Amino acid sequence: MGKCLLLLGANSDIGSAIARKFASEGFDVILAGRRSERFDSLASDLSIRHNVKTFVVEFDASKYETHQRFFSDLQMRPEVVVYSIGHLGDQVKARTDPELALDIMTSNYTGAVSILSLFANEFEQRKSGSIIGISSVAGDRGRQSNYIYGSAKAGFTAFLSGLRHRLFPSGVNVITVKPGFICTKMTEGMQLPTPLTSTPDKLAEAVFSAYKRRKDIVYHLPMWRSIMFIIKMLPESLFVRTKL
Ligand SMILES: NC(=O)c1ccc[n+]([C@@H]2O[C@H](COP(=O)([O-])OP(=O)(O)OC[C@H]3O[C@@H](n4cnc5c(N)ncnc54)[C@H](OP(=O)(O)O)[C@@H]3O)[C@@H](O)[C@H]2O)c1
Repeated sequence: MGKCLLLLGANSDIGSAIARKFASEGFDVILAGRRSERFDSLASDLSIRHNVKTFVVEFDASKYETHQRFFSDLQMRPEVVVYSIGHLGDQVKARTDPELALDIMTSNYTGAVSILSLFANEFEQRKSGSIIGISSVAGDRGRQSNYIYGSAKAGFTAFLSGLRHRLFPSGVNVITVKPGFICTKMTEGMQLPTPLTSTPDKLAEAVFSAYKRRKDIVYHLPMWRSIMFIIKMLPESLFVRTKL
């Protein structure tokens, strides 16, 4: 089977960097997302630059009823599926706007469960493949500043953990990627601490290396592992007094 990457969330800054990295390593690429005409130029660029096949497909994580058809109709069967869809949203607004809160759940969690379950079943039968989910350090502990987004990421992280456990005997690798701060559209306008912030290209390198080395959980930057370890260890009585 030829090597093919399916990128769910092709308009994501992190996702497109991952697509560029895999294409540079010889992977054919299926770019999937909403208003897919926006990534026609990325598709042409990848084909010309790296001499790989590219396809552009419409995909909306919230349209569950379309997922089976999307899965069945793909032009190539992927070896690697990356879920890079997400919605941070206005976390204060989401406290009083249930539709926004639900959209955050759908993009980061339930949409992922719906579509990735289909690939998990295929890969398990085939006994090969990798599923890579871009979760977040925000899922490691609910914090007052972003617990709606964080709880969706926590769900996604737990889903990927269970999937990895289930698929281990069939040789299918599941990687949970937990970025800290990455400069993208999602973080535009935020004051990010430079030593804790990375770029989509550096994250894409880390994701490809994790794929090659069949890693399971990747923190990026790696120092986030220690930071989140400390945050997770804080007793609740102390934690509720912090401004995190
Ligand atoms: N940037 C960070 O600091 C950071 C940190 C930790 C984790 N992450 C995670 O990394 C992933 C990529 O984010 P990013 O930083 O690259 O942000 P981004 O450029 O804003 O990408 C997010 C993408 O998700 C897509 N999306 C949202 N809801 C969707 C839906 N229902 N169906 C299909 N696509 C949908 C958006 O598509 P449209 O263009 O159509 O809106 C957008 O392209 C996300 O899961 C994010 O939570 C990011």
